[in-house]
Amino acid sequence: MDRHGFLRRLHQVYRPRNYLEIGVNDGRSLALSRVPSVAIDPAFKVVKSISCDVHLVKATSDSFFARKDPLLHLRTGRNPFRALARRDPLAVLGGDPKLELSFIDGMHLFEFALRDFINVERHSRWSSVIVFDDMLPRNVDEAARDRHTGAWTGDVFKVAQVLRRLRPDLVVVEVDTSPTGVVVVFGADPDSKVLPERYDDIEKEYIKPDPQEVPDEVLLRKNAVQPEALLDAPFWPALIRARNLNRGRSAFTALRGRIEEVS
Ligand SMILES: C[S@@+](CC[C@H](N)C(=O)[O-])C[C@H]1O[C@@H](n2cnc3c(N)ncnc32)[C@H](O)[C@@H]1O
Repeated sequence: MDRHGFLRRLHQVYRPRNYLEIGVNDGRSLALSRVPSVAIDPAFKVVKSISCDVHLVKATSDSFFARKDPLLHLRTGRNPFRALARRDPLAVLGGDPKLELSFIDGMHLFEFALRDFINVERHSRWSSVIVFDDMLPRNVDEAARDRHTGAWTGDVFKVAQVLRRLRPDLVVVEVDTSPTGVVVVFGADPDSKVLPERYDDIEKEYIKPDPQEVPDEVLLRKNAVQPEALLDAPFWPALIRARNLNRGRSAFTALRGRIEEVS
């Protein structure tokens, strides 16, 4: 299954009520959304039909998240009918909009993808789903910081290493999609300060000159699950129910074992 096939099925399985995309390019991944969306790219060149209500932002993700109210477009509380149609208590109350499905596929350098995660997480809930593209490079050349190949992942694969090491509260699932693998993160905590507070040290430790050291387990996809195994897993209805009822984080404790069973 390729990344877009995976994303298409993820929209069907998780049924997010909003979608955020960093890195739009020609619109192939954005074309899969049918819900209110925000999509960010300083140089998008959309050629696909888009079938969602989208705020298409021509900016870098860093400058977008530095705005005062970046997710204004998703604040459905101003329109109670739209909020009620979404059966989202937070939206009905006009609360700060929380992202449900996010796809991080912008600049493929470690520090950019890490900042994207930090920013997305601040606007997410534990029941949100965050997907990174290009997390399983197939060779060291593809993983170079200085791009010299057609297909390019850069060194964003290191973000999964950081999340596993410093954020054991998250569940990080590598998925064997073609061509370059995705990572799906569950259990976002908008109040966590671990990554922003340690950002400078993390940068110093993880940004290395080329050639990058890509572990065998990444190149050989030793820890990656099959996309169907994740998409067909039995925990999705419980996750959706908890999300729609806006259950507190304690509900994640009960659910995380079921998510981890997949990996
Ligand atoms: C791999 S493409 C996205 C592909 C698209 N998500 C898809 O699957 O069809 C990466 C895109 O990220 C954009 N990009 C580069 N730097 C960025 C940044 N700092 N913030 C947001 N997007 C960025 C590029 O302009 C490019 O269009």
